[in-house]
Amino acid sequence: FKKNLIDFNIKYYSELDSTNRYIKNLDSSENDEGLVIVAEKQLKGRGRNGNDWYSPAGTGLYFSILLEPEISVLDLSKINMIISLALYNVLKNKYPVKMKWPNDIYLADKKIAGILIESNIEAEMVKEVIVGVGCNTNQEVFPDELNKKAGSLLLFSGETVNNKNILTDILIEFDSLYSDFMIDGIDYFGVWKQELGIIGQEIKVKSNSNIIQGEVVDIDRQGNLILEKEGGNRQVISSGEVSVIKG
Ligand code: BTN
Repeated sequence: FKKNLIDFNIKYYSELDSTNRYIKNLDSSENDEGLVIVAEKQLKGRGRNGNDWYSPAGTGLYFSILLEPEISVLDLSKINMIISLALYNVLKNKYPVKMKWPNDIYLADKKIAGILIESNIEAEMVKEVIVGVGCNTNQEVFPDELNKKAGSLLLFSGETVNNKNILTDILIEFDSLYSDFMIDGIDYFGVWKQELGIIGQEIKVKSNSNIIQGEVVDIDRQGNLILEKEGGNRQVISSGEVSVIKG
């Protein structure tokens, strides 16, 4: 690994309820920075906004990385940007992927990867971050309710993906961006914001049960969308599901 800041310790399981939850439930003697938990199947894979993450055996890549960054809570969003970019950088070498706010990866208008970040904060400092990644590599079919919006690398290209190789590539890229940030203080906010390409778009955001519509006028340093609604009022949006009305 180029800079080798993180000492990765990768553990494979054939079945877990959720790789994020598995790390959360470890006691402190077992959880060191760099622990990577990979499951071939998740019984209760979790997504953002309380969704489930479809995680059948032998198809997708499901893993979580444990970090102990000791950074200010104000910098937590940087971890989100770094893992999104790591995933995006690796996939874009082979596929015409796009990033979608806040941290999804799309391929030909279908979602192929999602990220769930959970953190433990004490006295405004980030003690522990669990970075969970689900990537649809080799799914050939999706359940009806997902069919319209979910895709896989295999369905797109016709080629089976080696999950171990792609995981290694993602970890190497993540380690490199993470050490740029932690050691050299490099800020990937600008790159992340640029790649999202959402500024200027008229969107609808579904957040809890609310639907908010407006034009994205900016993204702040925490990664929140600044939406200008009809009439000119602005609203800060920190989570939700975006659909574009006008590009
Ligand atoms: C999303 O809703 O887009 C986020 C999906 C994150 C899924 C991954 S799979 C591995 C890790 N363990 C979980 O339970 N969820 C994340």
